[in-house]
Amino acid sequence: MEQKRYGHFDDQHREYVITDPQTPWPWINYLGNEDFFSLISNTAGGYSFYKDAKFRRITRYRYNNVPMDNGGRYFYIKDGDTVWNPGWKPCKTPLDFYECRHGMSYTRITGRKNGVEASVLFFVPLKKWCEVQKLTLKNESAETKTLKLFSFEEWCLWNAATDMENFQRNFSTGEVEIEGSTIYHKTEYRERRNHYAFYHVNTEIQGFDTDRETFVGLYNEFADPQAVMEGKPRNSHAHGWSPIASHYIEVTLKPGESRDFVFLLGYIENEQDEKFSAPQVINKQKAHALIAELDTTEKVDKAFAELCEYWDSLLNIYKVQTGNDKLDRMVNIWNQYQCMVTFNFSRSASFFESGVGRGMGFRDSNQDLVGFVHQIPPRARQRIIDIASTQFPDGGCYHQYQPLTKRGNNDIGGGFNDDPCWLIFGTVAYIKETGDFSILDEMVPFDNQPGSEVTLFEHLKISMDHVIKNLGPHMLPLIGRADWNDCLNLNCFSWDPNESFQTTENVSEGTKAESLMIAGLFVVTGKDYVALCKKIGKTAEAERMQQAVDAMIEAVKKHGWDGEWYLRAYDFYGRKIGSNECEEAKIFIESQGWCTMAEIGAEEGMVAKSLDSCKKYLECEHGMVLNNPAFTKYIYEYGEISSYPEGYKENAGIFCHNNPWVIIGECLAGRGNDAWSHYAKILPSYVEEKYQTLHKVEPYVNCQMVAGKDAFKPGEGKNSWLTGTAAWMWYTVSEFILGIKPDYDGIRIDPCLPETASDYTVNRKFREAEYDITIHPNGQQKGVKAITLDGNPIDGTVIPYSPGKHTVEVTM
Ligand code: BGC
Repeated sequence: MEQKRYGHFDDQHREYVITDPQTPWPWINYLGNEDFFSLISNTAGGYSFYKDAKFRRITRYRYNNVPMDNGGRYFYIKDGDTVWNPGWKPCKTPLDFYECRHGMSYTRITGRKNGVEASVLFFVPLKKWCEVQKLTLKNESAETKTLKLFSFEEWCLWNAATDMENFQRNFSTGEVEIEGSTIYHKTEYRERRNHYAFYHVNTEIQGFDTDRETFVGLYNEFADPQAVMEGKPRNSHAHGWSPIASHYIEVTLKPGESRDFVFLLGYIENEQDEKFSAPQVINKQKAHALIAELDTTEKVDKAFAELCEYWDSLLNIYKVQTGNDKLDRMVNIWNQYQCMVTFNFSRSASFFESGVGRGMGFRDSNQDLVGFVHQIPPRARQRIIDIASTQFPDGGCYHQYQPLTKRGNNDIGGGFNDDPCWLIFGTVAYIKETGDFSILDEMVPFDNQPGSEVTLFEHLKISMDHVIKNLGPHMLPLIGRADWNDCLNLNCFSWDPNESFQTTENVSEGTKAESLMIAGLFVVTGKDYVALCKKIGKTAEAERMQQAVDAMIEAVKKHGWDGEWYLRAYDFYGRKIGSNECEEAKIFIESQGWCTMAEIGAEEGMVAKSLDSCKKYLECEHGMVLNNPAFTKYIYEYGEISSYPEGYKENAGIFCHNNPWVIIGECLAGRGNDAWSHYAKILPSYVEEKYQTLHKVEPYVNCQMVAGKDAFKPGEGKNSWLTGTAAWMWYTVSEFILGIKPDYDGIRIDPCLPETASDYTVNRKFREAEYDITIHPNGQQKGVKAITLDGNPIDGTVIPYSPGKHTVEVTM
């Protein structure tokens, strides 16, 4: 079926250009890199927050709304009787031209109507707590135009969760102040809060509104706010109900004339003793200072140029040239960009994550880090410390923590037995990238309790021990509440639909539920841990853990092999899961991925057989499904996984996150053709070319799940942006396919490619060095024959690290 296209890549500008506002789903972008963040859709929907999408929400958003994606930062232009928005929504007045360009931490939306062009550049300047909206209005007609311009933002009463439920209080708390062209939102500022927000424009205004009902009208909508339709602001002052911010500006433009307006949505925190400038009047000093930094087009352009340079420098660290645009644009631009976004947000705020449900995940953030560590290592370092600080003394840990407080999340608690291993995964990646072993000596508390600090290395040790101390009857790791697959709940036993699968553990006493996924993960991270111990001279510890790893390998070979693939788990009663003996879900992807990455039983042919089985039973046109066949009924002993309809999410969806595990298994086994064909199936640029309508979600990033072969609509994507897929896709392509792998003493070169691969180059900045690497595959899938460094042959496959610029030639 020929698929309609809604946009295309513009690689030169590192943008995705959307040319039709009616995309099959809102296609969004993220603004902000450290503290102040915004989500913005291709029609300017979305919201902003400071650090934490739950506790410090600045503007309001209603998820799962009708129409979808209503509410955002809107500019209404009233030109005679026509009212329109540059991003088409919310008025939906047909435009003469529409374009949305999502770039690296910025979005530019341009609309044209009746000879007027309105173009808005949205971004969050580096190190500043505000969103800039630079609106340029241009009269392209032959007549003078007098336009009425209304801006619009709706304030959220800070806590995004209570904002949606506690109306008996909320409708009485809203407070604002208006000063010149700035509208201040100061709800609850008098009590425990020391923060406020503001919405400013750098020109004189002819009116304003701050009360939603007055501006919109109780029986009107965002599409036809009364004040706008009548061209008359009400100068309303909100007291309770729903405070908003809207500026009203009258603009006259001669033919050919254009004018810029800088709108600023800012966030300020004041010290306790500097909160007020007069009784009940907020101290606006910091707001004034921030406004002064961005009150002209020149200042804004400069801030924007700095942001672009920042992205230049980040994306200059790893650059590939293969001649295949679809690959190059994902590696050089979008995959790395998505890695930054997942690092920043974990799984908290997207158009599928409400920002109130989940904070930062322990396992999620460790994995995200692997996609990000090469970009800004010091931030990765801090993240590792933050994550480890939520661990318990027995090595277990909180499954999630809140970014604002960095405290473990009690609602979800702990007990996910794969979690500890991920700390090793993240830390090892950090040290290999940076050579900074000193992180191991950092003193890190348990559960953020002062006085409980031990070294980070000690945290790693207890992480490994946590697995060893929690083995089941087959000497395989007990699964606990769940392993990577949050929905395989083997100790849950829930018949009560009001119980959450995620937090309920009705029976676990005497459980025999073991996980082959954790077994593989333990072997992979255990080998890493052993190598690390040797590296830092802890030989006895290395030996101790090597024995545990060897024992785990034996346990998997003995009790984890089903004949053609690795089992998935044992249930509470010790019965096999993911076996040919099972009625449904005979094979699962997670254990194939981890046990092949761990190369368990490679000599006995297990790895090759497992990889073949993935191709035979899991693969389909859109990628590899999680399990096969799908569950067709709810299984009390298995929990959430079997509650999903066939082909969706953890029940035989294509969970993109774990496809790379098998791809890495393929790479380690040297099967480059297979690795590539799995990889290309879920590579957004390939999907973009074929399936914009079917795929539905953003074509420039990976989504968590694509409906699998058993689904009603195979190929339909969901849960875009915040997924471990980003980091895994990056790790897979950069280190295993293209084969440039940071190591303690240098860079290991070991590509695994399809036979058809041509020569390619990778420019890799690494610590204080820069390597220009050219690879000549010569039709080989795997196996480096010779490497020269600056013209001299080297032994082995590791280019020894030394600062400076180097040229590397690799012959396969
Ligand atoms: C969660 C991950 C989990 C995965 C599979 C994601 O939504 O963020 O932590 O491993 O689902 O269940």
